[in-house]
Amino acid sequence: MTTIASRATPGAAPARVWRHARLATFQPGTPWGWVEDGALVTSAEHITWVGPDRDLPAALRAADETDLQGALVTPGLVDAHTHLVYGGDRAGEFEQRLQGATYEEIARAGGGIRSTVAATRAASDEALFAAAARRAHVLMAEGVTTIEAKSGYGLAEDHEARCLAAARRLARELPVAIRTTSLAAHALPPEYAGRPDDYIDAALTWLAGQKERGLVDAVDAFCDTIGFTPAQTERVFTEAKRLDLPVKLHAEQLSDQDGAALAARFGALSCDHLEHLSPRGIAAMKASGTVAVLLPGAFYFLRETKLPPVAALREAGVPMAIATDHNPGSSPALSLVLMLNMACTLFRLTPEEAWRGVTVHAARALGLADRGRLAAGLRADFAVWDASHPRELAYRVGHAPCRQVVFGGAPRA
Ligand code: NIG
Ligand code: FE
Repeated sequence: MTTIASRATPGAAPARVWRHARLATFQPGTPWGWVEDGALVTSAEHITWVGPDRDLPAALRAADETDLQGALVTPGLVDAHTHLVYGGDRAGEFEQRLQGATYEEIARAGGGIRSTVAATRAASDEALFAAAARRAHVLMAEGVTTIEAKSGYGLAEDHEARCLAAARRLARELPVAIRTTSLAAHALPPEYAGRPDDYIDAALTWLAGQKERGLVDAVDAFCDTIGFTPAQTERVFTEAKRLDLPVKLHAEQLSDQDGAALAARFGALSCDHLEHLSPRGIAAMKASGTVAVLLPGAFYFLRETKLPPVAALREAGVPMAIATDHNPGSSPALSLVLMLNMACTLFRLTPEEAWRGVTVHAARALGLADRGRLAAGLRADFAVWDASHPRELAYRVGHAPCRQVVFGGAPRA
């Protein structure tokens, strides 16, 4: 916790000082990276100083000051896995499942992901953007400052590009950072029925253009019985690597395909879901530094019974992140704070593990080292809460008292 710039620096942007906060910095070394009476200084988009209020250098104290009077400050939350851009909803399918149909049966009968594909293709660019922006605002109201958004409901070159472009537009028009992920290998579109390898051939040709247009930050695939095989997934990853794009994987959600080990061979940023993850997969993820992104919303909504191997991941020292997996089929959740509670209640994470999972480990799952903690030099993305300790936010259900969000040093209106 050192000063890397001060107001005195010629030409520096004016500083803002936030004083008398309870800080959960998530810096290593102490539980929560806790500072009981802390201060934080920002300049332009970055944090320039953070530490105990009594140590605040006198030179910084005359700047624009806010007394937070003991309120909790955490890093801005990072939702590292969402399918935010899509048309329509699947409330009818929810009813079908309540009457006994399973997620897999609905998918095999042509519903599921493919029904959202039809609605997405039918939606205009403007409608896709407006729906995604509404969802982003709901996440943002609870302290989220970075959102990963996947394609995967277009499943044709132009529609995939439209979805990625809508995600990019969110970052231009809303005070939030967006990371885009190309997930063309999400489901087989109807025009390729029975020809999954031909579809993968086609999807591979789209990637270079997406990259060239600046539409894509990472590449994902759905490797499962109702998704794509490990061999098909490997082809997607090979093309991603050729284009120097990082990979991630929907792995071991409904069955063990040894997808995590495959992804680890490609140095994946993350493997996500992981209910059926094997010890071999855990060892491979540990060796490659891959983050385990756990998705309690999908586990809950699909009424899964097989838990991800949290104790073994913990034991192995694989970093765990928590995300909403927001999507219309398996996780219509738009509260990352609720996921904190679900991660603790359903998956038995400690509140601190769950919090690291939506901050520092979530940032790592996106390959971002400049956020997810409160430290000098990192982005000034943080949330002020009407709470005195972050464990309160993991404990409450349906109550996330976010008072203020600062994004890139600027308080959101
Ligand atoms: O992450 N697992 C695959 N994809 C989504 C579900 C998508 C859908 O049902 O529309 C998920 O859970
Ligand atoms: Fe997902």
